[in-house]
Amino acid sequence: MTTNYLTADAIKTVGVIGAGTMGAGIAQVAAQAGHPVILVDMNAEALERGIAGIRKALSRLAEKGKITAAAADEIGNRINPAQELSALADTQLVVEAIVEKLEVKQSVFAELETICSDTTILASNTSSISITSIASALKHPERFAGLHFFNPAPVMKLVEVIHGLATAGPVIDTLLELTKGWGKVAVAAKSSPGFIVNRVARPFYAEGMRLVEEGVAEPALVDALMRQSGGFRMGPFELTDLIGQDVNYAVTCSVFASYYNDPRFKPSLVQKELVDAGWLGRKSGRGFYRYEEGKQQAEE
Ligand code: NAI
Repeated sequence: MTTNYLTADAIKTVGVIGAGTMGAGIAQVAAQAGHPVILVDMNAEALERGIAGIRKALSRLAEKGKITAAAADEIGNRINPAQELSALADTQLVVEAIVEKLEVKQSVFAELETICSDTTILASNTSSISITSIASALKHPERFAGLHFFNPAPVMKLVEVIHGLATAGPVIDTLLELTKGWGKVAVAAKSSPGFIVNRVARPFYAEGMRLVEEGVAEPALVDALMRQSGGFRMGPFELTDLIGQDVNYAVTCSVFASYYNDPRFKPSLVQKELVDAGWLGRKSGRGFYRYEEGKQQAEE
């Protein structure tokens, strides 16, 4: 059993697995905080897209005067792309942000244990999967935790730090201190399906989609009302287009199954149709709305 837990100061190189919506954002956050980062994606195109997206985000920050152009370059250069998990051998923290499937995450972490040192803190950015069940595939589950960022990771302040049954207290303390040092508002929570935010948010998405399924209102009307009168930053349709319809649907399915098919969390067939069509939202150019270069187009 590992007892030699790393403190926040001891975390130097950060590995991130998955260069998609979340992984790229998390890599940017860690690099902006000064860490050398190794960003791994098995898909070369996704890796290239992720790195290009980070560079673009950093130059936008420079254009807005939030960082200098030299700093944008420096931060970008701190992120090293790789396609193999073996590139993560010398990391002190690895954050996984790949597909929301228990078996896939378990097999990635089991492989990581053969690559990283026993003290490397392993974390998952899962939105909903039980930290305890991911950890059950590990030899050292005590150094495994959930580190749940919100989309877009460089902008959103909240990070849920999730402990499973086997997670050691000092590991949670390290992750809380580390992410606070990154400028985040870090909150510890126990592992339970959807954790805090994604559980509370399920009915927000589900009732919006039910309104559309029942023909009561169009997505644009629901979104506009929630924004203009409901006090929300985004309505359920624009928000799920930002999250990714595939990711949001997978999270709902996982929460639904975890609560023994409680109808409160029943997934939406309208959303499943979008996923089947490949209309995944901003990232694919079409979801409930159409997008060009990430910008929402006027309605047809
Ligand atoms: P995404 O679909 O944008 O990106 C996933 C990336 O992982 C892809 O580039 C894919 O090529 C790569 N990948 C898949 N399997 C891999 C493997 N075995 N090894 C290396 N790379 C692999 O997904 P997204 O949205 O970034 O979500 C990732 C995780 O973060 C999921 O668990 C999701 O539930 C969670 N999450 C998502 C949020 C969102 O708003 N999209 C918010 C917070 C958490």
